[in-house]
Amino acid sequence: MAKGDSLPTVWERPAHTMVKHDILVRYLGAWFAIFGRSPYHSSVNILDGFAGPGQYANNEPGSPVLTLRALLDHQAFAGFGDTQFTFAFNEWDSERFASLQTVLAELQASRTPWPKNIEVKVENQNFQELARGILDSIPSGHQLAPTFAFIDPFGYKDVPMSLIRDLVSHQSCELFIYFDFNSVNRFANAGNVDPHFTALFASDEYKNAPPKDQGRAEFIHDLYERQLRKECNFAHICSFKMVTSTGHTGSYLFFCTRNDQAYNKMKQAMWALAPGGGYEFDDRLAGLQVLFGDEANTGPLQDELAQHFAGRTVPVQEIIDYVITETPFHSGQVKVKTLKPMQAAGRISSPNQKRKGTFPDGTRIEFPILGD
Ligand SMILES: C[S@@+](CC[C@H](N)C(=O)[O-])C[C@H]1O[C@@H](n2cnc3c(N)ncnc32)[C@H](O)[C@@H]1O
Repeated sequence: MAKGDSLPTVWERPAHTMVKHDILVRYLGAWFAIFGRSPYHSSVNILDGFAGPGQYANNEPGSPVLTLRALLDHQAFAGFGDTQFTFAFNEWDSERFASLQTVLAELQASRTPWPKNIEVKVENQNFQELARGILDSIPSGHQLAPTFAFIDPFGYKDVPMSLIRDLVSHQSCELFIYFDFNSVNRFANAGNVDPHFTALFASDEYKNAPPKDQGRAEFIHDLYERQLRKECNFAHICSFKMVTSTGHTGSYLFFCTRNDQAYNKMKQAMWALAPGGGYEFDDRLAGLQVLFGDEANTGPLQDELAQHFAGRTVPVQEIIDYVITETPFHSGQVKVKTLKPMQAAGRISSPNQKRKGTFPDGTRIEFPILGD
């Protein structure tokens, strides 16, 4: 019997799940490349706390298979031999757990010899117990090795902010977490699930969510983001909205990190899946090819750079760093998509540029003082 939901052991994969998986796999490709070659970390963890049955109704792969394949099939995997990768997949429901075991055993059997530096653990626990067990196993004075924690529940239970905070406290830990916006939106002022929501947010401020026409949605989204930043001490957070087939915001995926480059890589992954960089996916538009273009409108970024750097001459790298850390855009959108049109429009110039419209490292960019 499945716990806490009405779905069968293996269910149909919704369109937005595919998008979630695409973001996950794109990002992990970059994450594996960084840690696979890192001289600082000899072991890393990938924790999938709500792993599911390992596959969907039409045999499409679930997150455990996708994350493992992202490493096994990584083009640079042969060079990752000095890093030990430990995957922990946890599924509470016994039938889904059995399915997960079978799926993973098949995957491992199909890849012999199995790489010595990939360990796969499969757990059948409530996520809260699993997380506490992991934390209890860390000797005092130590922290968890760098961990990418994928926390993907169906709802809002069993993901208290205090537990997440402890789990991802290491500087190099990152979090990719599902936020059940729909439930909070419906029940924030109802009072019947307050203990779960108070734990989810580590705050009871959700009770102050205003009515819909006074910014309810932004309030709830921003409160969760603020709490992740404050409680878990994350420097960078970006979120991706999932819109349901009825046109309502169903959920958000929040990505949290303390590393500038990781933030940049995740923004690249999210942009690649969102039309025009809106950081959202609408189930109603599933299947339309146009969704998968990178049609970034950099107009707002051009205006922001003109404002921020007005009256200064700065190296192009400083502009890229600013874009990564302070805007929703990523590094790949700076030179050709933003600076080039700015130069063509006479909004910037360069004292040392070799060819107009190109901005190799070392190019200095001059931003005029803005008039009133
Ligand atoms: C959204 S599904 C996971 C999907 C999977 N991550 C994927 O992308 O393929 C959530 C899963 O969490 C399981 N689950 C529910 N409550 C749980 C808990 N407290 N601890 C661990 N797993 C739980 C459910 O049985 C379900 O299989």
